[in-house]
Amino acid sequence: MLNIVILAAGMGKRMQSDLPKVLHRIAGKPMLAHVLDNARKLQPDRIVVVTGHGADRVQAAFEGQPGSDGLIFALQNPQRGTGHAVQQALPHLLEGGADDATLVLYGDVPLVQPDTLRRLLGVRGQGLALLTETVADPTGYGRIIRNADTEIARIVEHKDASDAELAVNEVNTGILAGPTTQLRDWLGRITNDNAQGEYYLTDVVALAVADAVPVRAAQPAASWETLGVNSRLQQAELERAWQAEQARRLLEAGVTLADPARFDLRGELVCGRDVFIDVGCVFEGRVELADGVHVGPHCVLRDASVGAGTRIDAYSHVDGARVAGEARVGPYARLRPGADIGPQAHVGNFVEIKQSLLGAGSKANHLAYIGDATIGERVNVGAGTITCNYDGVNKHRTVIEDDAFIGSDTQLVAPVTVGKGATLAAGTTLTRDAPAGQLTLSRVAQTTVEGWQRPIKNS
Ligand code: UD1
Ligand code: CA
Repeated sequence: MLNIVILAAGMGKRMQSDLPKVLHRIAGKPMLAHVLDNARKLQPDRIVVVTGHGADRVQAAFEGQPGSDGLIFALQNPQRGTGHAVQQALPHLLEGGADDATLVLYGDVPLVQPDTLRRLLGVRGQGLALLTETVADPTGYGRIIRNADTEIARIVEHKDASDAELAVNEVNTGILAGPTTQLRDWLGRITNDNAQGEYYLTDVVALAVADAVPVRAAQPAASWETLGVNSRLQQAELERAWQAEQARRLLEAGVTLADPARFDLRGELVCGRDVFIDVGCVFEGRVELADGVHVGPHCVLRDASVGAGTRIDAYSHVDGARVAGEARVGPYARLRPGADIGPQAHVGNFVEIKQSLLGAGSKANHLAYIGDATIGERVNVGAGTITCNYDGVNKHRTVIEDDAFIGSDTQLVAPVTVGKGATLAAGTTLTRDAPAGQLTLSRVAQTTVEGWQRPIKNS
């Protein structure tokens, strides 16, 4: 049985925030959600989150979310140290089997990778395993104290360490895994007789050694994996480290990033071959870019898919939309949820489209609002065209059939249909269906007032 205990009771005072620390985000996702997602990849039998400060908000953020079935929250109030925190989880831990293990993670160390955790569980055997690191500046960390045979003897906290111990630069990341039954026993024996008056989880190490249980160490593959967040500065630093890692993975997969330092992925990005992404783009949710897609600078794409060979030009937003191949979007286009752009279609500047189909080869190149419309193939939507889809109470659909031509500055008062090959003259306010193949217009006849003079300013 594998249990995972996630410590998330701390206040996070240095964040200077009303939001509980573990709900602060990295790559658009609460830190605790990163820890939970990575924990779930180990397929544990149980996950217990130890909450304290802001417990209600932390619990509310995860309960009822996908994958949260069987997630248990244990309250630690007041917070008396990391050992005391794990004690609160003990009643919920599952046991049964020789390889029973409990893995302890921190809610504010969000990016430790499943491979690193698997390695930690691997070196454990049936003993205790610590994730340690050798760092240039060990200030603040618990030090790993080894005996003459270089075996781990205990961990000493910075505040309890002697000068000789402070010189040790192998440090405790805090993450450890041990046999559940013995962990219970050791946690029952720790005291708070130390500089901070806390129950230290780290004290289980010396108890394991005394019980002749092997204590081994593993190291993270990358140093950013074990970075914790205690302040906005550390949050920002970890965000950049994680973005750099995601950029690195994409570059290795063959994606061109104009500048990997100006790239933000807050979700999942799936790319085909020869995709180009210019600077300053933000990707959220799940985004798919097929072969040869070109994304111009400063675009935002969220929950979107873009077909092969399509260009999304500068400053475009694509949100909950699908764009087929060989299409052109932007610059300055806005595709909202339910926009479905056909192959070779063009959506130009200051065009907003939502809940609408724009058929193959159709064009809306300038300044238009298309909402709740079904537009066929090879349709030309003129500049300034607006679907009046909302009567103040209900939404209505506009249908524009293949090969229609919609003149500039036209209002289509839905529900309304423009027949195949119909032409609407510029400035038309269409309130009834326009027949196929014919010219329809609604326009006040043009007049010129003979002899008219501009008014003269009163002196
Ligand atoms: C802890 C380790 C130290 C290690 C360091 C790595 C102990 C005694 N020390 O020190 O060896 O080098 O982490 O960052 O374990 N928490 C609770 N309840 C509590 C106390 C803490 O849930 O009562 C949670 C915190 O929210 C945090 C984590 O445990 O997520 C670590 O707590 P923190 O106070 O940061 O531990 P350190 O003193 O830094
Ligand atoms: Ca800490």
